[in-house]
Amino acid sequence: MSHKANIDLQKVPQHVAIIMDGNGRWAKQQGENRIYGHYEGVNSVRDVVEGAGEVGVKYITLYAFSTENWNRPKEEVDALMELLVSTISAETPALNKKNVRLQAIGNLNSLPVTCLQELNESIDLTSMNTGLTLVLALSYSSKWELINAVKHIANDLKIGNLESDQISEEHIEKYLCTRLIPDPELMIRTSGEHRISNFLLWQLAYAEFYFTDKLWPDFRKEDLFEAILNYQNRERRFGKTSEQLT
Ligand code: IPE
Ligand code: IPE
Ligand code: MG
Repeated sequence: MSHKANIDLQKVPQHVAIIMDGNGRWAKQQGENRIYGHYEGVNSVRDVVEGAGEVGVKYITLYAFSTENWNRPKEEVDALMELLVSTISAETPALNKKNVRLQAIGNLNSLPVTCLQELNESIDLTSMNTGLTLVLALSYSSKWELINAVKHIANDLKIGNLESDQISEEHIEKYLCTRLIPDPELMIRTSGEHRISNFLLWQLAYAEFYFTDKLWPDFRKEDLFEAILNYQNRERRFGKTSEQLT
């Protein structure tokens, strides 16, 4: 039976974050070059976004390109940027049809101009949609984001808008890229790697982690449903005892 039928729709995480990993290895298994794997990965994105909408997830954040990924060979970086531009423009009508709103987090100004233009256009064209919000993490790293927040707070202190003993979680969150987005309850990483790779360090403080050996181009909505089911069978204690929860 499909995992979907077993999901408790009242307890679906409102925000799922995914580290889409394993495109290169997938391509290698097929005897193709890494870029081919990135192209195939787009099919997974399409299917997973659709699945997330079907079960009522409100936000899905996809780690598409990290700050560290700029250090890959130039051909691969160029191909990824190219893929980003073509995918975003080709998928915008489908996003509108599915009532999906696109957003992006990261150091977006470091993206090539055409990429940023496409991205902003699609964000604009989908901004009135009221269903799922799809957040692309692009040229994103948590340490970059946190340094940025610290700079803003330092400035607030300097100009007298803030006293140091007033600094709270809210002040920090106000300066994160995710300020208008609730923290993910579930973080999925594909490809058998068990690490966070500079992704949403602050926001994942209490997230449930789910790891699968599947490589990203093999991941489909059924795998997302399986991860959500697994999440629903966990006890989230937030520091309390099990007895306190019942
Ligand atoms: C994830 O797949 C996509 C990006 C990081 C852009 P990889 O390209 O990291 O694939 P592997 O991990 O080398 O197999
Ligand atoms: C993390 O994958 C970044 C994205 C999925 C965009 P990587 O493949 O770059 O991560 P590491 O370097 O193996 O940790
Ligand atoms: Mg990888």
